[in-house]
Amino acid sequence: MKTENQKVEHWNTIYQSKNENEVSWYKDYPEASIELIKELKLPLSAHIIDIGGGESRLVDVLLDLGYTNITVLDISEKALEKSKNRLGEKSKLVKWIITDITEFNPTEKYDLWHDRAVFHFLTAKENIIKYTSIAERAISQNGFLIMGTFSDKGPTKCSGLEIKQYTDKTLKSIFERFFELNNFKYLDHSTPFNTVQNFLFCTFQRK
Ligand SMILES: C[S@@+](CC[C@H](N)C(=O)[O-])C[C@H]1O[C@@H](n2cnc3c(N)ncnc32)[C@H](O)[C@@H]1O
Repeated sequence: MKTENQKVEHWNTIYQSKNENEVSWYKDYPEASIELIKELKLPLSAHIIDIGGGESRLVDVLLDLGYTNITVLDISEKALEKSKNRLGEKSKLVKWIITDITEFNPTEKYDLWHDRAVFHFLTAKENIIKYTSIAERAISQNGFLIMGTFSDKGPTKCSGLEIKQYTDKTLKSIFERFFELNNFKYLDHSTPFNTVQNFLFCTFQRK
């Protein structure tokens, strides 16, 4: 397993050396996430956090939709720097947090916690437990958690790192103590390299 410094370096190197559309997880429009978020009918003042947002354009779309309380968190300073540069002036409307999610100490409650392709990098049980307890603490009562991971039919690695695959049942079992599983779907993500990755997206609600 990589040490904390190695993890930070791994991700910073990726974001320094690759263009936005040269990574497998790239999407010019994150339609799966946006569709699920729209279904929640959250007020525009809802507190939304994108965990491991990296260079994702989800924040751009949320700003365009009129959301006013958006936070993007990532372990990689370089990733967030690139997102801020892309957004220009609009980046000032967003809160940016550089931290390993397992070390995150939330100071506010979120009505929506979104994670696409981040949680599945946590392979050690203790880190999975840390993540879920931070999410439990940080998500407001009746708030939502949208979790996108590789499914059991998806890849076993991403960007050279081992990942953990999930099914709706295994993901539910991890979060069910404090979250209700509202719905789930499996979908194929087409990478910029013309390969396909099967994802699982689950929407949970904080009990
Ligand atoms: C596969 S990318 C997905 C990026 C983005 N969510 C998307 O859908 O485009 C994984 C992201 O998670 C970040 N990351 C990886 N491990 C992390 C951790 N322990 N804490 C916070 N961010 C992490 C990486 O820097 C990277 O931006």
